[in-house]
Amino acid sequence: MCGIIGYIGKREAAPLILRGLHRLEYRGYDSAGIAIVSGEKLFAVKSAGMITALEARPELKRLIGNIGIAHTRWATHGEPTEQNAHPHLDCKGEIAVVHNGIIENYMELREALQKRGHTFNSETDSEVIAHLIEESYEGVLEDAVARALKLLEGTFGLAVVHTGERKVVAVRRSSPLIIGIGQDEMFVASDVAAVVEHTSRVVHLDDDEIACIRQDGFSVMRLSGEMVEKRVDKVEMSLSQIEKKGFKHFMLKEIFEQPASITNLLRGRLKDGKITLTPNLGLARFERVIFVGCGTSWHSAIIGRYLAENLAGIRAEFEYASEFRYRKPIVTNRDLVVVISQSGETADTLGALREAKKRGARTLGIVNVVGSTISREVDGGIYLHAGPEIGVASTKAFTSQVMALLLLTLYIRQERGLENDPELIREAAAMPAKINAMLDNLDVIKNIAREFASYKNFIYLGRGINYPVALEGALKLKEISYIHAEGYPAGEMKHGPIALIDDGFPVVFIVGNDAQHEKVLGNMQEVKARKGRIIAVCSEGDTDAARVADYCITVPQTSPLLSPILNVVPLQLLAYYVADAKGLDVDRPRNLAKSVTVE
Ligand code: M6R
Repeated sequence: MCGIIGYIGKREAAPLILRGLHRLEYRGYDSAGIAIVSGEKLFAVKSAGMITALEARPELKRLIGNIGIAHTRWATHGEPTEQNAHPHLDCKGEIAVVHNGIIENYMELREALQKRGHTFNSETDSEVIAHLIEESYEGVLEDAVARALKLLEGTFGLAVVHTGERKVVAVRRSSPLIIGIGQDEMFVASDVAAVVEHTSRVVHLDDDEIACIRQDGFSVMRLSGEMVEKRVDKVEMSLSQIEKKGFKHFMLKEIFEQPASITNLLRGRLKDGKITLTPNLGLARFERVIFVGCGTSWHSAIIGRYLAENLAGIRAEFEYASEFRYRKPIVTNRDLVVVISQSGETADTLGALREAKKRGARTLGIVNVVGSTISREVDGGIYLHAGPEIGVASTKAFTSQVMALLLLTLYIRQERGLENDPELIREAAAMPAKINAMLDNLDVIKNIAREFASYKNFIYLGRGINYPVALEGALKLKEISYIHAEGYPAGEMKHGPIALIDDGFPVVFIVGNDAQHEKVLGNMQEVKARKGRIIAVCSEGDTDAARVADYCITVPQTSPLLSPILNVVPLQLLAYYVADAKGLDVDRPRNLAKSVTVE
């Protein structure tokens, strides 16, 4: 979950790679560091804290040279101190390594290296890599890296430099890595966002591939020694997509982008009441669909089950990817496993995908990042085309995932020879305009956020398809505002959580305009009777809910099956304005990273 970048070319490396590193900061931001090869010498500067702290270091001015690597960290082994920041160097200070991933057998490697006389300067698992390469080095860096890798267990995206060679060596095993091809210059990075300013031509490395990157080109070999011909891909992302464009935070910008991201998702897939999805996986033949994901994507998975049962009439389940991969799930080739992931790199979701494939299931990915590992390993997929999501809190990816799940389940329905409801299709097409209308008037949400920003606990309640929306609202609040928030099925409240309710306990109700409406009103009355303060998200014209609630946020009317898309938007905004009122770093909440590539 760290970000790594490397450069070789004619330009000064340090300013270039620091700019690129900022674009990777969403992957981790507790410490950062850079190493530059200058003539026959290697200079490294590291700092605890964000990249801006590194940039404030006066020693940076001395980093002159055209080859360099840098790292922004999300700590796994060892505290986020300067000492533990990357790059890590070998004993002679000739080799520098930046690492994204986890070395599982580092303890035994470290002990053995220490016995052989190596001195360690950090508590990290990553430092063993620099010392192993040092021991294997016989004059050709990529060969030394290949030899060292044979001893490593775990996951890694690595970039390595040596003072004696004009090259950057990069390796990947389960941690994403791309090579950016420029004009007389080359890059390596965890993500295309870091290089999009300089090139639109990239190569995606696969597992156990070692790239030797020179100023005028690159070669890739497998760990086994065999050379590989790699395809050059064109980057879809543009620089303007990864800038804030006047918004205070990426999260707010991404909330506002939802009308456009849903429009992009629907483009070409919804026509004349019919759904078009490619490639055709013969979806009608499956007996069961299992939706898996993590975090927000897991909330989408719950909605997936609801839609699959209601629209496609197919047996459906949902599961945390981190649980699915370590059970002995009974799946066969009659099952479709749908993996949902914004980044397409989440380690647990990738693990679940591989487990499902191993057990014979067919797999389909609902993924945002084009070319990501999951998108390349699934049998078929639906890209969200939501554009880069940079704020750590997922927003536009969620609403696009829900819409993608609607299309998928309608498509299965179609494939099974059932008619689609034209009204539902019309409503799907109307979603962008309806979200736009909501974004026009934020005063009610801003006022509620100001009033409740100092509260310590919240509970979010919803039923049916809006139960996962309650979970999502609570997750948004806790991850960016550090307020304890729980999501619960409203009907379960009386089985325990109701004991928490008093006048200091705000309860957010998501009131669907569906068959369970009356039941939710009943739950609101139960809270009211215990002096709980109620914030309700309900449909326009729902006077019953408005009467019971202390505060009411209305959303446009729509089909119950599409209501999660509209109901979640005020909850995203509520979390955003609460966190902003508390003066928190909304896009980079503590302890988190955007892309969770460790288990
Ligand atoms: O990239 P993914 O969708 O696989 O990420 C899954 C979760 O890590 C992610 O949704 C996380 O929970 C977000 N921070 C939630 O806002």
